[in-house]
Amino acid sequence: MPFAHITGWGMYVPEPILTNDDISKLVDTNDAWIRDRTGIRERHIAREHEFPSTLGVEAALKALAVANLAPTDLDLIICTSSSPEYIFPATACLIQDQIGATKAGAFDLQAACTGFIFATNMAAQAIRSGSIKSALVVGTEVLSRMVNWKDRNTCILFGDGAGAFVLQASDVPGGVISAVMHSDGSGADALSIPGGGTRFPATEATLHEGKHFVQMDGKEVFRFATRVMGRAVVEALESANMKIEDVQCIVPHQANYRIIETAAKYLKLPIDKFVINVERYGNTSTASIPIATVEGLQKGRINTGDKVVFVGFGGGLTWGAMVVEWTGPIPANKKHIYTEQYRLFARLRSLLRRVWRHIEGFFSRKEL
Ligand SMILES: CC(C)(COP(=O)(O)OP(=O)(O)OC[C@H]1O[C@@H](n2cnc3c(N)ncnc32)[C@H](O)[C@@H]1OP(=O)(O)O)[C@@H](O)C(=O)NCCC(=O)NCCS
Repeated sequence: MPFAHITGWGMYVPEPILTNDDISKLVDTNDAWIRDRTGIRERHIAREHEFPSTLGVEAALKALAVANLAPTDLDLIICTSSSPEYIFPATACLIQDQIGATKAGAFDLQAACTGFIFATNMAAQAIRSGSIKSALVVGTEVLSRMVNWKDRNTCILFGDGAGAFVLQASDVPGGVISAVMHSDGSGADALSIPGGGTRFPATEATLHEGKHFVQMDGKEVFRFATRVMGRAVVEALESANMKIEDVQCIVPHQANYRIIETAAKYLKLPIDKFVINVERYGNTSTASIPIATVEGLQKGRINTGDKVVFVGFGGGLTWGAMVVEWTGPIPANKKHIYTEQYRLFARLRSLLRRVWRHIEGFFSRKEL
């Protein structure tokens, strides 16, 4: 059975920064309160022309460059987002088109903030089964367009950004070792965007009631998160036949510094075992784990051979953890891949396919 290695990683955040002081001009809050209750100082906000797919593409191309893998070699793309571009088509298909991944099947996976762990596990399972050789997993968010900027309970928490992993098959042991996935739909109301689906289709009334915005019972989510995080880490380690002492680094979902602190206490670990960057990005939902991983790698917190645990939780309710032996890119005598060339090729290809579809439609109408 092949092993599923994480061979590429990338992140992208939009340039504009919104500080706590900026938010205090919109709602009744202040920097000291937000920092004290959440650990967040600032977050990035997408510009008008930026969308989950465009942020995801930036992260994806960086990840492919690290793996030195051409988009045309990808077999599978899984995108996970709590703020997808549309209900359908899948954001994954938009990314597939924009990077020119000509042979990849692409779909979205919805598990709120736990989505990146679930999606990485699905990609790893597909590789381990032997059915595919490579996969791209993207977590991407423009949550700034889904929060109510008049609701101080939620608007202080979230930020925009994207992160991506490339996974590849190898006979060398390592990569994704174990994963646990959990859900409890009885807590669905605790964190949701109720409007715009088929339960509450968009109407003037749903708009007026703000059903298209994130709704959250903060205390309930806090209690849930602190209950499940540490336990999920232990479970994933047990399934990998490992102990917490074997782990060099934990990359948690970045929702709230105090939640991570509680998990550290539960696991009896010093807080510096955790990669934490929530202060600069806020909660970027599905993108938070890959963004923190990329920064952990850049800062030398994660190195080849390290055992790393990812742990996340979110709406659904969902939660999960994954144990990985970090190996990095697969050495190969391949020539260097220039991902920017693929971006140009993808644009041209997409344009030609649209034009061709138009011409084909014109002639087939004549035939009917
Ligand atoms: C949202 C959250 C930060 C609120 O913190 P909290 O300590 O539970 O705060 P409370 O809701 O109890 O509010 C405490 C007080 O601060 C006030 N308050 C709430 N939001 C505030 C804000 N943004 N600024 C200033 N004061 C605020 C409340 O009105 C309340 O005042 P009162 O005591 O006079 O009634 C916290 O519950 C949390 O982080 N929950 C988890 C959310 C999360 O991670 N969601 C995503 C999961 S993927």
